[in-house]
Amino acid sequence: MTVLPDIDPYAMHDLETCSSVVQGHELVVLRRDDRWYVYLNSCPHLGIPLNFIADDFLDLDRQYLICANHGALFRCEDGYCVSGPCVGQRLRQFDSEIRDGRLLVDL
Ligand code: FES
Repeated sequence: MTVLPDIDPYAMHDLETCSSVVQGHELVVLRRDDRWYVYLNSCPHLGIPLNFIADDFLDLDRQYLICANHGALFRCEDGYCVSGPCVGQRLRQFDSEIRDGRLLVDL
């Protein structure tokens, strides 16, 4: 497991997202209902980053992760695409856990 050194998981609010780069991986971190989710910041449609604005990965209703490029919507809990050009595909998800107040990811 690898520590995300730039993320303080408990400083994140519910339904807050942020980005992190670790070992060359651009990651999306989401806190929701006191769980943390970590995804590769790469749309399965074209393999490009999901966001235009730093740390901004949720749709207006804050129900889904969104690709800002063409509007694909991904479930927060498993990265499954429910709408858009890559429907049925998933964001690459990494296992993660909180240990000693730090967020660790299995890259
Ligand atoms: S690049 Fe993400 S929906 Fe097209």
